[in-house]
Amino acid sequence: MSDPGFEHVYRAASDPAAPTLLLLHGTGGNEHDLIPLADAIAPAAGVLSPRGKVLEGHMPRFFRRLAEGVFDLDDLRVRTQELGDFVEASAARYGFDATRVVAVGFSNGANIAASLLLLAPGVLSGAILFRAMVPIVPDALPSLPGKRILMSNGRTDPLIPAAQAELLADLFRRCRADVTLEWQPGGHNLTKRDVELATRFLAAP
Ligand code: MLT
Repeated sequence: MSDPGFEHVYRAASDPAAPTLLLLHGTGGNEHDLIPLADAIAPAAGVLSPRGKVLEGHMPRFFRRLAEGVFDLDDLRVRTQELGDFVEASAARYGFDATRVVAVGFSNGANIAASLLLLAPGVLSGAILFRAMVPIVPDALPSLPGKRILMSNGRTDPLIPAAQAELLADLFRRCRADVTLEWQPGGHNLTKRDVELATRFLAAP
């Protein structure tokens, strides 16, 4: 498999027992955005943090959208595969365990992480999805038995309707994933409670 070559940051885990976190930024972000979050929630974990390759104006994203919340599904399928290939190529290149990669995604990054779980279910061993919505409903649902997924959404998020988060959690449940959906009183931005939830999720065996 070829390496699709994302601009990225990689940092090896300082504890061999810790997973590698696949950090996936939101629209307009870059590969550096979520490093402080990773340091806060799992300082000993490895970090693989690519920059989305799709530009909306000057804003990097992980896949194209036609409008706010309306996704280009053909592009999403291609970009999801490409990101999955990048994770596998990076594991070979850097020597981390490809079976222990946990996505930490925010907004557009959470949406492509959800797409990875649904379309390329072997890539992630678990995921933390902040402010995600349904990216795509696959024709055939994957089997994700016991795969741990933490979703955290804002009750008053103007970008992600609450029903979207509930639909995504239901979709994961139908795939037999072990999903927890947590609700925050706030909107789209991350809060201290999001950080606490993610820290606890990653500390659990
Ligand atoms: C998306 O485009 O993935 C969602 O609308 C979230 C975002 O604004 O990035």
